[in-house]
Amino acid sequence: MTAASPNNPVDFADLLAFYASAGVDEALEDAPVNRFAEAAPKPAERMPTTTPRESSAPEPPAAPAGFDRRALPDAPAPRPSTSAVPDEAQAALARQLANAAVSLDELRQHMAAFEGCNLKATAKNLVFADGNPQAAVMLVGEAPGRDEDIEGLPFVGRSGRLLDRMLAAIGLDRGSVYIANVIPWRPPGNRTPTPHETEICRPFIERQIELVNPKVLINLGGPSAKTLLNTSEGILRLRGNWRVHTTASGIAIPAMPTLHPAYLLRTPAHKKLAWRDFLEVKAKLRALSSDDLAGN
Ligand code: URA
Repeated sequence: MTAASPNNPVDFADLLAFYASAGVDEALEDAPVNRFAEAAPKPAERMPTTTPRESSAPEPPAAPAGFDRRALPDAPAPRPSTSAVPDEAQAALARQLANAAVSLDELRQHMAAFEGCNLKATAKNLVFADGNPQAAVMLVGEAPGRDEDIEGLPFVGRSGRLLDRMLAAIGLDRGSVYIANVIPWRPPGNRTPTPHETEICRPFIERQIELVNPKVLINLGGPSAKTLLNTSEGILRLRGNWRVHTTASGIAIPAMPTLHPAYLLRTPAHKKLAWRDFLEVKAKLRALSSDDLAGN
């Protein structure tokens, strides 16, 4: 047997195929690159920041050429550029824009024009929603992945295909539900959105729910449940129990937290739990429509 060599094109093709099948979709460099700094506006264009402590902090001394700070055992994490860290002013602007939208079209336009979330700088597309805005059921996931970013639609990758099958199992499809995410821009490399990014995007998804005004909300995964149900409980405790999402105008929408399809792909033994949750949703829809028929 010959040893694999990166100089052999056949080995290299095999290596790439292996990476692709393992889900590797980003090429990272040895040294971290501050994309926030690249995407940040030039000093004269910057919005005023509310974090003067950060902006006035002294720069660390310059390192000698070729020196890698990460070689130190307690090397501090690189400080993000202050101009790129969204501050409370951006969250307030997001709230203002979200509340000013009187239709989903307007909300989409306001989100497309919003520059206050750094995730937009690295995403290809705004992933606003898919499905039927008149649907009785709205599902909210966490954030788009690679496929969603490319297509500009939520849940179109592997986990989306599983979600479609879960919906079909209770007689629903994309024509009878509306799907969105807490975060509408893909975090680079599918990293977890920071709490700050979530707070910036929260007003948009809350307004989106309010404008769709579904009869039932399904929270796909812990981040969606925690953000929209005002709880810090873990998803394995939350799932399967009805909660309430209360909109800014005070409308109480029954919400079913359940397991995220991406988690179910990794943990198929838990599919039965999600199945039970979806049966709960089906029963709730039936109860709500018989209430409607009875004029309640
Ligand atoms: N995971 C999510 O939470 N949302 C998507 O749109 C895709 C994957």
